[in-house]
Amino acid sequence: MSVVDEVEAKKNITLKQLQYLLDGNEAAYLKERALAVRREHYGNEVFIRGLIEFTNYCRNNCYYCGIRRDNQNVDRYRLSEGEIMECCTEGYRLGFRTFVLQGGEDGFFTDEKICHIVSSIKGSFPDCAVTLSIGEKTRESYKAFFEAGADRYLLRHETANAVHYQRLHPSDLSLDNRKECLNNLKDIGYQVGAGFMVGSPGQTIKTLYDDLQFLRELNPHMVGIGPFIPQHDTPFATEKAGTVDMTVTLLAVIRLLLPRVLLPATTALGTIDPVGREKGLMAGANVVMPNLSPKRVREKYALYDKKICTGEEAAECIECLKRRVSKIGCSVVCDRGDYR
Ligand code: 5AD
Ligand code: FES
Repeated sequence: MSVVDEVEAKKNITLKQLQYLLDGNEAAYLKERALAVRREHYGNEVFIRGLIEFTNYCRNNCYYCGIRRDNQNVDRYRLSEGEIMECCTEGYRLGFRTFVLQGGEDGFFTDEKICHIVSSIKGSFPDCAVTLSIGEKTRESYKAFFEAGADRYLLRHETANAVHYQRLHPSDLSLDNRKECLNNLKDIGYQVGAGFMVGSPGQTIKTLYDDLQFLRELNPHMVGIGPFIPQHDTPFATEKAGTVDMTVTLLAVIRLLLPRVLLPATTALGTIDPVGREKGLMAGANVVMPNLSPKRVREKYALYDKKICTGEEAAECIECLKRRVSKIGCSVVCDRGDYR
């Protein structure tokens, strides 16, 4: 039995098998199987999520992130509730049925404000899913957002290895708390997304193995992975970026471990390779998350350098994506794209 077949059959992977696949062995067959598994559950449909980056203020200071607190060179902005609603209206017109509200951990947006925004969106667009991606909160806050109508929550675990976690974050953040948040979210009833960066400083085969085992345990509905890309105003400015090959290999492995998972071909992957997202979709990914933020704030949400699509309107991106997706034999669908 090939290693790929074994991983697919057992829905598990050993450290040795991971090393073997990351070395590029059975690469074509791995992608072929991941694609087949994705097709079994989701056919050739690609789900779209409209990303609304509504604040780039952040109280955290993660070493990798361009909007970290200490970065004085960020032009900070917040969208008003009215502006957020306008993004949704335009998104709805373009066919989006999921809105992802993503932002830094910004104290200006109190629980009350977030709940108000969520219930306004759900009130105006009852057939849409609302996803929040606003970081670590208390269980009570998560519960309040859920009761206001939020359906899903994205919170990447970043790394499942505690030592590596501290290499990426200052000491006021901990892996234990991150895990606690993810467990709370799941327990409350959210569809939950975890994930990590590929090639982040200090990442090793062992930390990646820990990531995969953590994902198997958590069994999230979504997994967001993309290459680490240095941002010039961060402590990691001179670190090396993650690679396309490694990201694509890990996407395929994750598809085999969690066959039904919702797996985005991320903007970061599209940033390090002009056809990175297509490569991701051909290796088992089934989601893309174009930007719905107003054009004037696009460049200000710079988690990493050279981010794509900062000059395009949402309408241009969706046209572009439809073309790209159909070129590889898939089609963009206009529905909520729930976990199956
Ligand atoms: N490169 C790639 N991804 C990044 N993120 C933050 N900074 C970077 C970077 N420099 C990712 C993190 C975070 C998500 C919103 O973006 O994984 O969870
Ligand atoms: Fe934005 Fe292609 S997806 S320009």
